[in-house]
Amino acid sequence: MADQISLKEMKEWKALEGHYARVKDMHLRDLFSQDPKRAEKFTVEAAGVYFDYSKHRVTATTVNLLCDLAEASGLREKIEDMFTGEKINLTEGRAVLHTALRAPKNATVVVDGENVVPHVHAVLEKMEQFADKVRAGEWKGHTGKPIRNIVNIGIGGSDLGPVMAYEALKDYSDRKLTFRFVSNVDGTDFAEAVRDLRPEETLFIVASKTFTTLETMTNATTARDWALKALKDEAAIAKHFVAVSTNASKVSGFGIDTENMFGFWDWVGGRYSMFSAIGLSTMIAIGPKHFREMLSGAHEMDVHYRNAPFEENLPALMGLLGLWYTDFFGAQSIAVLPYEQYLKRFPAYLQQLTMESNGKSVTLDGHKTDYQTGQVYWGEPGTNGQHSFYQLIHQGTKLIPCDFIAFAKPRHKLGRHHDLLLANVFAQAEALAFGKTAEELKDEGVKDWLIPHKTFEGNRPSTTMLLDELTPAGLGRLVALYEHAVFTQGAVWRIGSFDQWGVELGKVLAGRIAPELEAAEEPVLAHDTSTNALIRRYRSRR
Ligand code: F6P
Repeated sequence: MADQISLKEMKEWKALEGHYARVKDMHLRDLFSQDPKRAEKFTVEAAGVYFDYSKHRVTATTVNLLCDLAEASGLREKIEDMFTGEKINLTEGRAVLHTALRAPKNATVVVDGENVVPHVHAVLEKMEQFADKVRAGEWKGHTGKPIRNIVNIGIGGSDLGPVMAYEALKDYSDRKLTFRFVSNVDGTDFAEAVRDLRPEETLFIVASKTFTTLETMTNATTARDWALKALKDEAAIAKHFVAVSTNASKVSGFGIDTENMFGFWDWVGGRYSMFSAIGLSTMIAIGPKHFREMLSGAHEMDVHYRNAPFEENLPALMGLLGLWYTDFFGAQSIAVLPYEQYLKRFPAYLQQLTMESNGKSVTLDGHKTDYQTGQVYWGEPGTNGQHSFYQLIHQGTKLIPCDFIAFAKPRHKLGRHHDLLLANVFAQAEALAFGKTAEELKDEGVKDWLIPHKTFEGNRPSTTMLLDELTPAGLGRLVALYEHAVFTQGAVWRIGSFDQWGVELGKVLAGRIAPELEAAEEPVLAHDTSTNALIRRYRSRR
């Protein structure tokens, strides 16, 4: 790779540095009072998402400079490279084509000389046939009873997307069926998931891109033992186990007929896989029609990202705003605050998407970055968070930009609930931005000594995203929005957003320690003194 000038040497970066020095102390109170049209100017609506970023510490110049940086970083070309199947995952030599998973049937996306779209649709159709059978009670277990329970076994991207989507779209799900998700190698996860299930009515979906992941293989083996203990016949496996994987030989090695395997491809990253066959549990829950709607919603956001100018491009703006706070204001984290109970697993889902993607400190050409990357994503649904950690966001010493997500229509119309919910999300964004001054408190008659405690500085930034309703399409749009925001940041930061080498070392070390824990004879330990002592302590107490 040809040497390029470092990010911080780029004139667009330097322009942002100079600009930051000028605007860093500006207060949102002033920005709003100086411009009555601010809300309008800093709101973009696209792909069904009303995206209000007016409560960010930006001016029109900030947005232009951030977009200049994106242009100069080759974001436009990099987006095209992703959509057209270039092998942009350099360290693994792979294309990055989660967008092909939601491409319409007549689209063409070529990888290694082959159009992959027909393959995507062939798997979708196979999934649909299977999902319809299960939903209709036609997929029978070994004893002839219909399947009533679906247990997805997977971890990381093979769990977080499915469980998040199941929870998000539960209101669309077939309530005759029970869904469980087992991910942790902690046996409690499996034990609790199956404790009230009957093996003869239970289907396991073993979801693993590689089909080698320790947690998933351990849980799958335990599931097989659990099923066979009751069903007492190896032939039962064919009725009670299906696999979702890219690795057919490992699937058949495990004893699952590849007829019962739903494939995907190495160009789908684990954390980008919920729209692939990894979403089989989602499709069984909500039905093929709704699953297709979810794909269409994501596709809508894909088209927007690929075509809209950056100034009006939601994922580009979201990504660049995150970068503005990370690299210029020194913010470390972003709070994701969905005011929708069904999105309770959305922050957890985003943690893998964002942090496994952009938690890197070396550029694609192997240089240590001299700027900050990847934020810590965290959050809880509103209004619960308000009674827990919002105190720190309002009055603490840290700057935490917030993503508020809300829906105009409730999934459940119950008295005043939805108006109260929405009143709270709007109020929080308002309070964070504008705060409450000492003068206002004085006018209210607050005693002098209490004023410092009751003052809200404000100037705490947030985006408010307002969608019409939490539908499958809406969820698809939201997920694709964040996926592409992550891409935007990775492109500017020059890091590889699609590998995850940082998870490897721990896996290797655990592989070394496990036999030391299980050995009958006292093992000779060659770790550091702390690890050696912990192993000995565990062996003596287990
Ligand atoms: O350990 C990290 C990881 O590789 C994730 O990227 C991935 O989503 C997860 O493990 C599960 O991998 P698999 O689907 O291959 O079991």
